Formats: sequence, structure tokens, C-alpha cells
Amino acid sequence: MVEDLPAFYRIGPAPPDRPWVVVSMVATVDGATALDGVSGALGNDTDREVLRLARAAADVIVVGAATVRAEQYRPVREPKQLVVVSRNGDLGGAPAAGAPNTHIVRPEPDGPDGLAALLARYPGRVVVCEGGPSLNGQVLAAGLADEVLVTISPRLVAGGSARLAHGPDQADPTPWELRHVLVDEDHLFVRYRRRGEATS
Ligand SMILES: NC(=O)c1ccc[n+]([C@@H]2O[C@H](COP(=O)([O-])OP(=O)(O)OC[C@H]3O[C@@H](n4cnc5c(N)ncnc54)[C@H](OP(=O)(O)O)[C@@H]3O)[C@@H](O)[C@H]2O)c1
Repeated sequence: MVEDLPAFYRIGPAPPDRPWVVVSMVATVDGATALDGVSGALGNDTDREVLRLARAAADVIVVGAATVRAEQYRPVREPKQLVVVSRNGDLGGAPAAGAPNTHIVRPEPDGPDGLAALLARYPGRVVVCEGGPSLNGQVLAAGLADEVLVTISPRLVAGGSARLAHGPDQADPTPWELRHVLVDEDHLFVRYRRRGEATS
């Protein structure tokens, strides 16, 4: 384990006039984000702890419905809110469905602008976006992400798995700023912040 991991994953507070948006993902060295349709086999204990720390900092967790179905999401503890983005509203029997603080939303308009309108509902809140890649693609295309937390899993799996984000081109290709690289056995943990963002 990395010593004093929580010190590396202090997130927030968000600025008062908009959310602070953190995208959190794990990927293999060759960029795959799922094995056999789920991401669970990619991370190690430290990765799970990073996910836990990000969630602990979150007021709102935003996730695509395909991820909720694939990973059979469980409810999150109140007062946190789990916002599931979906067009058809079907969470595939995931335990999170039906929890009072699980909200299934269909942003309008469909795509990055709708995601921007959705996240604008959370000024002053830390929003953690847990994917999947198609949701991340829209969040990035809209320029909404302030930080990304990426675990590099020591595997090369080829196959057709999506990258961390796919979809429309990111509007701003400016390089991001590295906040840290941590090493735990063969896994890497990187944290990037959009250049010029206030420190959180
Ligand atoms: N490696 C990682 O850290 C990680 C993290 C998360 C997920 N994953 C993996 O990624 C895969 C799922 O990712 P994915 O990219 O296929 O799907 P996703 O982003 O999780 O979800 C896509 C779904 O979200 C809904 N959606 C997306 N954009 C929308 C919009 N603008 N308006 C309304 N609804 C919208 C639609 O739901 P409906 O179909 O309900 O209409 C769409 O089918 C799974 O295999 C999962 O295990 C990996």
C-alpha cells in the first residue's frame, strides 16, 4: 500500500459557483477499461481505496447507466446522491435502483451540452464521475472535468474495450498538470488537474 494515501486524494472544496468535477477510472497499460465487460479485475486494493476516497469526497456521484448495469451498482449512503444518466431508464436490476438517493436522469439536450446543464445543478459540490467511457467522453468534450484520477493496471489485454473516454473531440487539447504519480507494486496511480484550475 502507498503510505498516507488519503493525503494524496484530498479533493475539494468546490468553488461556490460551479461543481468541482473529478473523473475516476482504471485502465490497463494498453488502455482497456473492462475485462469481460466489467472493471473489477483491473484494480488492486489501493485502487479500491482510491475509489473509496474519491467517493468519500463526493457530494454527487455521476455514472452512465451501462456501468450501473454491468457493475450492478449498490446504493450510496445518504446524503450522497447517485445520479445515473440514462435514455431508457433501465438499470438492469442493479441494487442501486429504487434507493431514495438514486436519481435516473436524461439530460437535455442529448450529449455534452446536456451534461453541462446537468452538472450546473451542483454548484459548490464535488461531483465524481465514475464513467463509463461514453459518459466520460461527453464530460470531457464539454470541458467539464477539473481533475482525472487514473489507475494504470499492469495488464495488456488487447480486445475491443473502450478507452477511458470516447466520443466527440475534447474541445480544449491543452496539456493537463500532473499532481502526482504513485507506485504500488506494479500499479500506477496518477492524478491530473486541468492546467490553471485553482488548487483543491
Ligand atoms: N475501468 C473503469 O474504471 C470503468 C469505469 C466505469 C465503467 N467501466 C466499464 O465501462 C463499460 C460501460 O461503459 P460505456 O461507455 O459502455 O457506458 P456508460 O458510459 O457507463 O453508460 C452509457 C449509457 O449511459 C446513458 N447515457 C450516456 N450518455 C447519455 C446522455 N447524453 N443522455 C442520456 N443517457 C446517456 C445511456 O444509458 P441507457 O442505455 O440506459 O439509455 C448509455 O447507454 C462497462 O464495461 C464498465 O464495466 C469501466
